[in-house]
Amino acid sequence: MAAIELKNVAKSFGNVAVIQGVDLSVEHGEFIVFVGPSGCGKSTLLRMICGLEPITSGALSIGGKPMQGVAPAKRGVAMVFQNYALYPHMTVAENMGFSLLMERVPRKEREARVKRAAETLQLGELLGRRPKELSGGQRQRVAIGRAIVRDPQVFLFDEPLSNLDAELRVQMRLELAKLHRKLGATMIYVTHDQTEAMTLADRIVVLRSGVIEQIGTPLEIYAAPRNRFVAGFMGSPKMSFLAAKVVRTSGREVTLAVEGMSPATVDIELRKAERLADQVTLGIRPEHFRMKGGQGPRLQARIDFVERLGGDSYLHAPDHPAGGLIIRQSDAVPVKPDAMPVTIGVDWPEVHLFAAGGQAIELKRESLSES
Ligand SMILES: Nc1ncnc2c1ncn2[C@@H]1O[C@H](COP(=O)(O)OP(=O)(O)OP(=O)(O)O)[C@@H](O)[C@H]1O
Ligand SMILES: [Mg+2]
Repeated sequence: MAAIELKNVAKSFGNVAVIQGVDLSVEHGEFIVFVGPSGCGKSTLLRMICGLEPITSGALSIGGKPMQGVAPAKRGVAMVFQNYALYPHMTVAENMGFSLLMERVPRKEREARVKRAAETLQLGELLGRRPKELSGGQRQRVAIGRAIVRDPQVFLFDEPLSNLDAELRVQMRLELAKLHRKLGATMIYVTHDQTEAMTLADRIVVLRSGVIEQIGTPLEIYAAPRNRFVAGFMGSPKMSFLAAKVVRTSGREVTLAVEGMSPATVDIELRKAERLADQVTLGIRPEHFRMKGGQGPRLQARIDFVERLGGDSYLHAPDHPAGGLIIRQSDAVPVKPDAMPVTIGVDWPEVHLFAAGGQAIELKRESLSES
């Protein structure tokens, strides 16, 4: 186990800055998940932590020790890549023990460590097989096994499950959670998968263009995104964003007008209310629309298409004048697409509000009401 500390870490390739001053403290045994759009710098950050990529400026320490000039093999860090290449001519045991062989670990100890890792990963029966005789999930476990035998203080995973089918991913996700509990090691995990991020992480780090947009527990990130980017990035389907006009400010009470919606008020901190621009954005998650009931304002929307997932359905109103809507409906009989608009309620205490620049505006949730 080891804590990881990044202080103002930056990385440029030539004159292109891809990581711009990242500060991050990872605690002993923590499971951290990096998410962010393609190209935002997730892999680059991992590669800098494990020493495969030099840091342009800033400082990195692992377990309290500065890592400048420390070779990757000496950092106590193991990385598992998306495209883990197993050696095809070697058995599972040989694949797992290879790095120990290179480090000249004596045979007996090597075998013992491979055996222990194989038990942890339930690969005991497969040690004599070659990679082509394994399923995708088993191969993935061997790749993780190669990391485990080295007994690292820190595991870095770069989208390790993205080559697996949906069912195997779920299975491996649970196994990774168990592995983390069992080993108690510090783990940093990169994924594009929202469910993996929400379920595995102690804390999620949301990155955009080499900058950390927010760090928090999965529920903090989901319930209180710091800005519109984080709000739109986490959550699937996406939060709906509606253009809202500030029509009246009376003390802390701000009345909003949204096209196709009955007027409604939000309560915000006085100083912020005074500084509020005319145009703001209302954010509503799919599960916070109500097809029936609900205390909040009413929206008129024409449903263009419906995705039925079995239990839930998603109603899409992409052409709503205030902004495209995605509505979750859990009833057995979903609304049908129709040229006629339907009336939709909003779970008003659950809405989000964003300033023109995208920053979230904190709402006094207990006092949200319809005007
Ligand atoms: N060796 C390199 N030389 C120049 N630019 C690079 C190099 N490696 C990465 N980059 C650039 O750095 C940025 C960050 O890349 P990185 O691979 O870290 O992104 P990522 O967040 O892992 O994306 P993805 O989700 O697609 O894997 C990208 O714009 C990429 O093109
Ligand atoms: Mg990557």
